[in-house]
Amino acid sequence: MREAERLLAWYDANARVLPWRAPPGAPPPEPYRVWLSEIMLQQTVAATVKPYFRRFTELWPDVRALAAAAREDVLREWAGLGYYARARNLHACAKAVAEDHGGRFPDTVEGLRALPGIGAYTAGAIAAIAFGRPVAAVDGNVERVVSRLRAIEAPLPAAKAEIARAAQAMVPGARPGDFAQAMMDLGATICAPKAPRCLLCPLSGLCEGSARGLAASLPRKAPKAAKPERRGAVFAHFRAEDGALLVVTRPEKGLLGGMIGLPGPEWTADPPDEATLAAAAPAPGSWRRAEASARHVFTHFSLTLDVLWAAGPAQPGARYLPVGEALAATPTAMRKAIRIALAARAD
Ligand code: ADE
Repeated sequence: MREAERLLAWYDANARVLPWRAPPGAPPPEPYRVWLSEIMLQQTVAATVKPYFRRFTELWPDVRALAAAAREDVLREWAGLGYYARARNLHACAKAVAEDHGGRFPDTVEGLRALPGIGAYTAGAIAAIAFGRPVAAVDGNVERVVSRLRAIEAPLPAAKAEIARAAQAMVPGARPGDFAQAMMDLGATICAPKAPRCLLCPLSGLCEGSARGLAASLPRKAPKAAKPERRGAVFAHFRAEDGALLVVTRPEKGLLGGMIGLPGPEWTADPPDEATLAAAAPAPGSWRRAEASARHVFTHFSLTLDVLWAAGPAQPGARYLPVGEALAATPTAMRKAIRIALAARAD
Protein backbone atom coordinates (compact mmCIF):
# COMPACT_ATOMS: atom_id res chain seq x y z
CA MET A 1 0.00 0.00 0.00
CA ARG A 2 1.12 3.53 -0.70
CA GLU A 3 1.64 5.82 2.27
CA ALA A 4 -1.54 7.85 1.72
CA GLU A 5 -3.64 4.70 1.67
CA ARG A 6 -1.98 3.39 4.80
CA LEU A 7 -2.46 6.66 6.57
CA LEU A 8 -6.14 6.85 5.56
CA ALA A 9 -6.74 3.27 6.73
CA TRP A 10 -5.16 4.20 10.06
CA TYR A 11 -7.32 7.35 10.21
CA ASP A 12 -10.49 5.32 9.54
CA ALA A 13 -9.77 3.35 12.70
CA ASN A 14 -8.15 6.03 14.87
CA ALA A 15 -9.49 9.49 13.93
CA ARG A 16 -9.89 11.73 16.94
CA VAL A 17 -13.51 12.73 17.50
CA LEU A 18 -13.57 16.53 17.53
CA PRO A 19 -16.59 18.86 17.47
CA TRP A 20 -15.57 20.54 14.19
CA ARG A 21 -14.98 17.31 12.33
CA ALA A 22 -16.97 14.95 10.16
CA PRO A 23 -16.20 11.26 10.74
CA PRO A 24 -13.75 9.67 8.26
CA GLY A 25 -15.30 9.24 4.82
CA ALA A 26 -18.37 11.40 5.63
CA PRO A 27 -19.30 14.56 3.69
CA PRO A 28 -17.33 17.60 4.89
CA PRO A 29 -18.58 19.93 7.63
CA GLU A 30 -19.70 23.44 6.72
CA PRO A 31 -16.84 25.69 5.60
CA TYR A 32 -17.72 28.12 8.41
CA ARG A 33 -17.03 25.47 11.04
CA VAL A 34 -13.83 24.35 9.32
CA TRP A 35 -12.57 27.92 9.06
CA LEU A 36 -13.49 28.82 12.65
CA SER A 37 -11.77 25.71 14.02
CA GLU A 38 -8.65 26.19 11.92
CA ILE A 39 -8.22 29.78 13.10
CA MET A 40 -8.66 28.68 16.71
CA LEU A 41 -6.25 25.77 16.24
CA GLN A 42 -3.40 27.98 15.02
CA GLN A 43 -0.75 27.65 17.76
CA THR A 44 -3.32 26.04 20.07
CA VAL A 45 -4.03 22.39 20.95
CA ALA A 46 -7.38 20.77 20.26
CA ALA A 47 -8.28 20.27 23.95
CA THR A 48 -7.99 24.03 24.59
CA VAL A 49 -10.01 24.91 21.49
CA LYS A 50 -13.02 22.64 22.11
CA PRO A 51 -14.97 24.79 24.63
CA TYR A 52 -14.27 27.96 22.65
CA PHE A 53 -15.46 26.33 19.43
CA ARG A 54 -18.68 25.17 21.10
CA ARG A 55 -19.35 28.59 22.58
CA PHE A 56 -18.69 30.47 19.33
CA THR A 57 -20.90 28.16 17.26
CA GLU A 58 -23.70 28.44 19.83
CA LEU A 59 -23.54 32.23 19.88
CA TRP A 60 -22.87 32.64 16.15
CA PRO A 61 -24.02 29.59 14.17
CA ASP A 62 -22.96 30.91 10.76
CA VAL A 63 -20.65 33.42 9.17
CA ARG A 64 -23.34 36.08 8.77
CA ALA A 65 -24.17 35.89 12.47
CA LEU A 66 -20.50 36.31 13.37
CA ALA A 67 -20.13 39.20 10.91
CA ALA A 68 -23.11 40.94 12.54
CA ALA A 69 -21.74 40.52 16.08
CA ALA A 70 -20.24 43.47 17.93
CA ARG A 71 -16.48 43.20 17.76
CA GLU A 72 -16.14 43.68 21.49
CA ASP A 73 -18.33 40.60 22.06
CA VAL A 74 -16.12 38.54 19.76
CA LEU A 75 -12.95 39.70 21.52
CA ARG A 76 -14.50 39.02 24.93
CA GLU A 77 -15.40 35.46 23.97
CA TRP A 78 -11.89 34.95 22.63
CA ALA A 79 -10.29 36.04 25.90
CA GLY A 80 -7.93 33.36 27.22
CA LEU A 81 -7.30 31.72 23.85
CA GLY A 82 -4.27 33.93 23.11
CA TYR A 83 -2.79 35.41 19.94
CA TYR A 84 -5.44 38.10 19.84
CA ALA A 85 -4.70 39.24 16.30
CA ARG A 86 -6.53 36.05 15.39
CA ALA A 87 -9.75 37.33 16.96
CA ARG A 88 -9.54 40.70 15.22
CA ASN A 89 -8.88 38.99 11.89
CA LEU A 90 -11.62 36.45 12.56
CA HIS A 91 -14.20 39.20 12.79
CA ALA A 92 -12.75 41.07 9.79
CA CYS A 93 -12.79 37.84 7.77
CA ALA A 94 -16.42 37.06 8.69
CA LYS A 95 -17.38 40.56 7.53
CA ALA A 96 -15.46 40.15 4.28
CA VAL A 97 -17.14 36.81 3.55
CA ALA A 98 -20.60 38.18 4.43
CA GLU A 99 -20.21 41.45 2.56
CA ASP A 100 -17.91 40.67 -0.38
CA HIS A 101 -18.64 36.97 -1.02
CA GLY A 102 -22.38 36.71 -0.39
CA GLY A 103 -21.81 34.75 2.82
CA ARG A 104 -19.94 31.90 1.11
CA PHE A 105 -16.28 31.12 1.66
CA PRO A 106 -14.12 31.01 -1.49
CA ASP A 107 -13.35 27.38 -2.38
CA THR A 108 -9.76 27.75 -3.62
CA VAL A 109 -6.45 28.24 -1.85
CA GLU A 110 -5.91 31.58 -3.63
CA GLY A 111 -9.39 32.86 -2.81
CA LEU A 112 -9.05 31.86 0.83
CA ARG A 113 -5.57 33.35 1.20
CA ALA A 114 -6.89 36.74 0.17
CA LEU A 115 -9.02 36.88 3.35
CA PRO A 116 -7.84 38.37 6.66
CA GLY A 117 -6.07 35.95 8.99
CA ILE A 118 -5.77 33.14 6.44
CA GLY A 119 -2.19 32.15 5.57
CA ALA A 120 -0.82 29.24 3.58
CA TYR A 121 -1.48 26.61 6.24
CA THR A 122 -5.05 27.66 7.00
CA ALA A 123 -5.96 28.11 3.31
CA GLY A 124 -4.66 24.60 2.60
CA ALA A 125 -6.54 23.11 5.55
CA ILE A 126 -9.87 24.75 4.61
CA ALA A 127 -9.50 23.99 0.89
CA ALA A 128 -8.77 20.33 1.62
CA ILE A 129 -11.18 19.71 4.50
CA ALA A 130 -14.17 21.81 3.44
CA PHE A 131 -13.83 21.71 -0.35
CA GLY A 132 -11.97 18.48 -1.13
CA ARG A 133 -9.10 20.23 -2.92
CA PRO A 134 -5.96 18.05 -3.16
CA VAL A 135 -3.68 20.40 -1.24
CA ALA A 136 -1.43 19.96 1.77
CA ALA A 137 -1.91 21.85 5.06
CA VAL A 138 1.55 22.22 6.52
CA ASP A 139 1.81 23.37 10.12
CA GLY A 140 4.50 22.56 12.67
CA ASN A 141 3.08 19.09 13.30
CA VAL A 142 3.04 18.19 9.64
CA GLU A 143 6.55 19.60 9.22
CA ARG A 144 7.67 17.21 11.90
CA VAL A 145 5.95 14.20 10.30
CA VAL A 146 7.27 14.96 6.81
CA SER A 147 10.81 15.83 7.84
CA ARG A 148 11.01 12.45 9.60
CA LEU A 149 9.33 10.46 6.86
CA ARG A 150 11.77 11.82 4.26
CA ALA A 151 14.72 12.23 6.65
CA ILE A 152 15.08 15.90 5.76
CA GLU A 153 18.07 17.03 7.80
CA ALA A 154 18.28 20.66 6.72
CA PRO A 155 17.25 22.83 9.69
CA LEU A 156 14.07 24.88 9.97
CA PRO A 157 13.17 27.51 9.01
CA ALA A 158 15.37 27.16 5.88
CA ALA A 159 13.90 23.71 5.16
CA LYS A 160 10.29 24.96 5.10
CA ALA A 161 9.95 25.07 1.32
CA GLU A 162 11.49 21.63 0.83
CA ILE A 163 9.21 20.14 3.49
CA ALA A 164 6.15 21.84 1.97
CA ARG A 165 6.97 20.38 -1.46
CA ALA A 166 7.42 16.91 0.03
CA ALA A 167 4.10 17.27 1.89
CA GLN A 168 2.27 18.35 -1.25
CA ALA A 169 3.68 15.38 -3.18
CA MET A 170 2.09 13.01 -0.65
CA VAL A 171 -1.48 14.34 -1.01
CA PRO A 172 -3.83 11.79 -2.63
CA GLY A 173 -6.47 12.72 -5.21
CA ALA A 174 -9.16 10.99 -3.15
CA ARG A 175 -10.09 12.14 0.39
CA PRO A 176 -7.56 14.99 0.65
CA GLY A 177 -9.48 16.45 3.62
CA ASP A 178 -9.26 13.23 5.59
CA PHE A 179 -5.63 12.96 4.55
CA ALA A 180 -4.87 16.45 5.94
CA GLN A 181 -6.56 15.57 9.23
CA ALA A 182 -4.86 12.17 9.35
CA MET A 183 -1.50 13.94 9.12
CA MET A 184 -2.57 16.24 11.96
CA ASP A 185 -3.65 13.31 14.12
CA LEU A 186 -0.50 11.38 13.37
CA GLY A 187 1.56 14.41 14.42
CA ALA A 188 -0.51 14.94 17.57
CA THR A 189 -0.74 11.34 18.80
CA ILE A 190 2.06 9.21 17.30
CA CYS A 191 4.78 11.31 15.72
CA ALA A 192 5.28 13.24 18.96
CA PRO A 193 8.01 15.89 19.21
CA LYS A 194 10.37 14.25 21.74
CA ALA A 195 9.42 10.58 21.81
CA PRO A 196 7.83 9.39 18.58
CA ARG A 197 5.87 6.18 19.05
CA CYS A 198 7.24 4.53 15.92
CA LEU A 199 6.06 1.06 16.94
CA LEU A 200 2.45 2.26 16.64
CA CYS A 201 2.96 4.28 13.46
CA PRO A 202 1.15 3.18 10.31
CA LEU A 203 4.02 4.65 8.24
CA SER A 204 6.95 3.23 10.20
CA GLY A 205 8.01 0.79 7.47
CA LEU A 206 8.11 3.71 5.01
CA CYS A 207 9.82 6.22 7.29
CA GLU A 208 13.37 7.02 6.34
CA GLY A 209 13.97 8.96 9.54
CA SER A 210 12.93 5.98 11.65
CA ALA A 211 14.95 3.55 9.52
CA ARG A 212 18.05 5.70 10.02
CA GLY A 213 17.45 6.18 13.74
CA LEU A 214 16.96 9.92 13.25
CA ALA A 215 13.25 10.32 13.89
CA ALA A 216 13.40 11.81 17.38
CA SER A 217 16.07 14.33 16.33
CA LEU A 218 14.04 15.74 13.41
CA PRO A 219 13.16 18.35 12.39
CA ARG A 220 16.42 20.10 13.13
CA LYS A 221 16.06 23.72 14.08
CA ALA A 222 18.41 26.65 13.68
CA PRO A 223 19.29 28.04 17.14
CA LYS A 224 16.82 30.66 18.29
CA ALA A 225 17.73 34.09 19.53
CA ALA A 226 17.10 34.48 23.26
CA LYS A 227 13.70 35.92 24.11
CA PRO A 228 13.90 39.56 25.14
CA GLU A 229 12.44 40.69 28.46
CA ARG A 230 9.94 43.50 28.64
CA ARG A 231 8.70 45.35 31.68
CA GLY A 232 5.49 47.17 32.42
CA ALA A 233 3.01 48.01 35.15
CA VAL A 234 -0.75 47.95 35.45
CA PHE A 235 -3.15 49.84 37.69
CA ALA A 236 -5.99 48.00 39.39
CA HIS A 237 -8.47 50.64 40.58
CA PHE A 238 -11.29 49.17 42.66
CA ARG A 239 -14.41 51.33 42.86
CA ALA A 240 -14.95 51.88 46.57
CA GLU A 241 -18.69 51.28 46.69
CA ASP A 242 -18.80 47.86 45.01
CA GLY A 243 -15.24 46.68 44.28
CA ALA A 244 -15.71 46.88 40.49
CA LEU A 245 -12.50 47.24 38.52
CA LEU A 246 -11.53 50.08 36.19
CA VAL A 247 -10.78 48.75 32.70
CA VAL A 248 -9.67 50.24 29.40
CA THR A 249 -9.76 49.04 25.82
CA ARG A 250 -6.21 48.59 24.61
CA PRO A 251 -5.04 50.50 21.53
CA GLU A 252 -6.02 48.90 18.24
CA LYS A 253 -2.45 48.38 17.07
CA GLY A 254 -0.04 46.15 18.89
CA LEU A 255 -0.21 43.11 21.08
CA LEU A 256 -3.58 42.41 22.72
CA GLY A 257 -4.94 45.23 20.50
CA GLY A 258 -8.62 45.97 21.00
CA MET A 259 -8.78 43.73 24.07
CA ILE A 260 -9.99 44.89 27.47
CA GLY A 261 -7.25 45.27 30.07
CA LEU A 262 -5.99 47.23 33.03
CA PRO A 263 -4.48 50.64 32.27
CA GLY A 264 -0.72 51.09 32.41
CA PRO A 265 2.24 52.63 30.59
CA GLU A 266 3.72 51.11 27.45
CA TRP A 267 5.89 48.01 27.89
CA THR A 268 9.60 48.73 27.55
CA ALA A 269 12.98 47.13 28.20
CA ASP A 270 13.26 48.74 31.66
CA PRO A 271 10.72 48.97 34.47
CA PRO A 272 8.70 52.20 34.30
CA ASP A 273 10.07 54.98 36.52
CA GLU A 274 8.01 56.98 39.01
CA ALA A 275 7.27 59.84 36.60
CA THR A 276 6.01 57.42 33.94
CA LEU A 277 3.84 55.68 36.51
CA ALA A 278 2.43 58.96 37.81
CA ALA A 279 1.51 60.03 34.30
CA ALA A 280 -0.19 56.71 33.55
CA ALA A 281 -2.22 56.35 36.76
CA PRO A 282 -5.95 56.37 35.99
CA ALA A 283 -6.88 58.04 39.28
CA PRO A 284 -5.21 60.27 41.86
CA GLY A 285 -4.50 58.85 45.28
CA SER A 286 -2.18 56.48 46.97
CA TRP A 287 -1.30 53.46 44.92
CA ARG A 288 0.12 50.42 46.64
CA ARG A 289 2.45 48.00 44.95
CA ALA A 290 1.63 44.29 45.18
CA GLU A 291 4.55 42.13 46.21
CA ALA A 292 4.12 39.75 43.30
CA SER A 293 4.44 40.70 39.64
CA ALA A 294 2.57 39.08 36.76
CA ARG A 295 4.80 37.10 34.38
CA HIS A 296 3.66 36.09 30.97
CA VAL A 297 5.59 34.60 28.07
CA PHE A 298 4.51 35.73 24.61
CA THR A 299 5.87 34.36 21.36
CA HIS A 300 8.52 37.03 20.91
CA PHE A 301 9.23 38.28 24.44
CA SER A 302 8.61 37.65 28.12
CA LEU A 303 6.71 40.26 30.08
CA THR A 304 6.82 41.21 33.76
CA LEU A 305 4.01 43.49 34.91
CA ASP A 306 4.21 45.21 38.28
CA VAL A 307 0.79 45.53 39.85
CA LEU A 308 -0.33 48.71 41.57
CA TRP A 309 -3.69 48.87 43.25
CA ALA A 310 -5.95 51.36 44.97
CA ALA A 311 -9.56 51.67 46.03
CA GLY A 312 -11.45 54.90 45.70
CA PRO A 313 -14.41 56.77 44.31
CA ALA A 314 -15.51 56.14 40.74
CA GLN A 315 -13.45 58.10 38.22
CA PRO A 316 -15.65 60.23 36.00
CA GLY A 317 -15.88 58.80 32.49
CA ALA A 318 -14.06 55.59 33.40
CA ARG A 319 -15.44 52.15 32.69
CA TYR A 320 -15.80 49.68 35.56
CA LEU A 321 -16.56 45.98 35.35
CA PRO A 322 -17.42 43.58 38.18
CA VAL A 323 -14.26 41.61 38.92
CA GLY A 324 -15.71 38.34 37.55
CA GLU A 325 -16.54 39.99 34.25
CA ALA A 326 -13.14 41.67 34.06
CA LEU A 327 -11.43 38.32 34.59
CA ALA A 328 -13.56 36.68 31.90
CA ALA A 329 -13.03 39.43 29.34
CA THR A 330 -9.27 39.97 29.61
CA PRO A 331 -6.28 38.17 28.09
CA THR A 332 -4.29 35.82 30.30
CA ALA A 333 -1.46 38.29 31.09
CA MET A 334 -4.04 40.75 32.45
CA ARG A 335 -5.92 38.02 34.27
CA LYS A 336 -2.76 37.16 36.18
CA ALA A 337 -2.34 40.83 37.14
CA ILE A 338 -5.95 41.10 38.31
CA ARG A 339 -5.56 38.01 40.48
CA ILE A 340 -2.44 39.52 42.06
CA ALA A 341 -4.29 42.77 42.77
CA LEU A 342 -7.18 40.86 44.34
CA ALA A 343 -4.82 38.91 46.57
CA ALA A 344 -2.98 42.09 47.61
CA ARG A 345 -6.24 43.87 48.44
CA ALA A 346 -7.42 40.90 50.52
CA ASP A 347 -4.21 40.91 52.62
N1 ADE B 1 -4.90 21.13 14.20
C1 ADE B 1 -5.09 21.98 13.20
N2 ADE B 1 -6.19 21.68 12.49
C2 ADE B 1 -6.72 20.60 13.07
C3 ADE B 1 -7.87 19.81 12.82
N3 ADE B 1 -8.68 20.09 11.82
N4 ADE B 1 -8.10 18.76 13.64
C4 ADE B 1 -7.26 18.52 14.65
N5 ADE B 1 -6.18 19.20 14.94
C5 ADE B 1 -5.90 20.25 14.16
